[in-house]
Amino acid sequence: MAPHTTDVLVVGSGIAGLSAALGAARRGASVTIATKATEPADASTWWAQGGIAVARDDPGGFAADIQQAAGGTADSDAISVLVENANDAVRDVFIETLGIEFDTDGSRFDFTREAAHSNDRILHVDASTGKHLHVPLLNHLADHDAVTIDTDTAALDLCWDEGRVFGALLESGGEVTPTFAGATILATGGIGALYSQTTNPAGATGDSIAMAALAGAAVTDMEYVQFHPTVYCGANPFLLSEALRGEGALLRNGDGERFMPAVHEDAELAPRDVVARAVDRERERTGDVWLDVSPLDFGETFPNLAARCRQRAVDWTDGIPVAPAEHFLCGGISVDDRGRTTLDNLYAVGECSRTGVHGANRLASTSLLEGLVWGLRAGEDAAGGSPQVIETPSRPDRDPALPTAFVQAKFDRLRRVMDELLGLERTHADLDWAVAVLRRLKGEVDAYTRTRTSRSLYELRNAAITALLIARAASENRESVGTHFVVSEEPEREVPASR
Ligand code: SIN
Repeated sequence: MAPHTTDVLVVGSGIAGLSAALGAARRGASVTIATKATEPADASTWWAQGGIAVARDDPGGFAADIQQAAGGTADSDAISVLVENANDAVRDVFIETLGIEFDTDGSRFDFTREAAHSNDRILHVDASTGKHLHVPLLNHLADHDAVTIDTDTAALDLCWDEGRVFGALLESGGEVTPTFAGATILATGGIGALYSQTTNPAGATGDSIAMAALAGAAVTDMEYVQFHPTVYCGANPFLLSEALRGEGALLRNGDGERFMPAVHEDAELAPRDVVARAVDRERERTGDVWLDVSPLDFGETFPNLAARCRQRAVDWTDGIPVAPAEHFLCGGISVDDRGRTTLDNLYAVGECSRTGVHGANRLASTSLLEGLVWGLRAGEDAAGGSPQVIETPSRPDRDPALPTAFVQAKFDRLRRVMDELLGLERTHADLDWAVAVLRRLKGEVDAYTRTRTSRSLYELRNAAITALLIARAASENRESVGTHFVVSEEPEREVPASR
């Protein structure tokens, strides 16, 4: 059978991958999108609530806010790329191409504000912006003659040789075949599945980062894992958008007291890393933290979040119980201003990439924008190459049954390590221990991937590699900055058996 070929292969189907596909198709390239997703809700984009920030007429103010939230660690050239392209990219794709109806106050856009923004600049649709952008973009590409979307299809490995990438080995329905491409664009999103509490969908196993690292691509800033401060913490958790605090919601501890004014001058609107740590500490100290939505008309202003509360029988007049949960990886595969990685013909966009925009802590509502801007730029840059077929290492032709319990047990162990040792606050001893445990775990998983090709096993391998990269970066960075907060060593204590 002739191998599959395409001008551009995009792996992943969130806003970044779809924007890359759009950019490449507009330049005349044939595009294949390979995605594990079987429905839109399998991508993090679909879940995004708050909205998409734009520069309006103040790119300088927007850039300053991004840098301030990052504690001065973001790359100012990358920030310029983001803010200078923000208005045009959103107008082009979402308003003129897709006709998205962002919320208005009757005649003008209803720009909202979230934590650490100095201005109202966030376009939104209710507080469920993600799905209102994602589904029309997906449908637009599904109708595009030059674009093929292969769902329920996982990339297991890149096809590469001597610093150049030629495509990827794709698994679908148990069959593994290479797809060769002039350019390959990785866009599989984040790493939420490495933690027990996350706002990400279950498939966020760090696939792109692991595949790129295995092929030799540079990966940077992996220690900067962002936790969202306000996730409903009862049964069936869900994100409570920062837009709520932007509209006046307050945080109260288990004693009913507001605690943020004593922590930061911006109180509930402080940068996300500061709020997440404060929420965590107050939960530890007083038992609970509640999001008090009484200052706003919650049911009227946020009907989708009110509906989720009703489904869980949460009476928001008493406040909504919240806790931090893993939300976003600020680091990832190192890329330049067009999404080019350090390997030839390999690009990365969206959460799996590290553009430098977020530094050590991301500003709210910049992730959809980054995916859009870098996606378009990478797709346009990637068009023009032709696929070349190379020999790929032979794969085991049998997939001996692997007990599901094996993958589950290893994932459970991995998550325990990430939760306990690589959470909001870290110690040097814990970080060194995490590296040792994760190195061992990766070795155990590697032994199985040599003879098997099952998707769940590769997801576990990807999670193990990505977790180890996070642990290594964190243990090498002894300085507290942004989301990477290292506390002084705790007194001697017993090592939990779970390790
Ligand atoms: C939120 O709505 O709070 C999340 C927005 C973001 O992650 O940027």
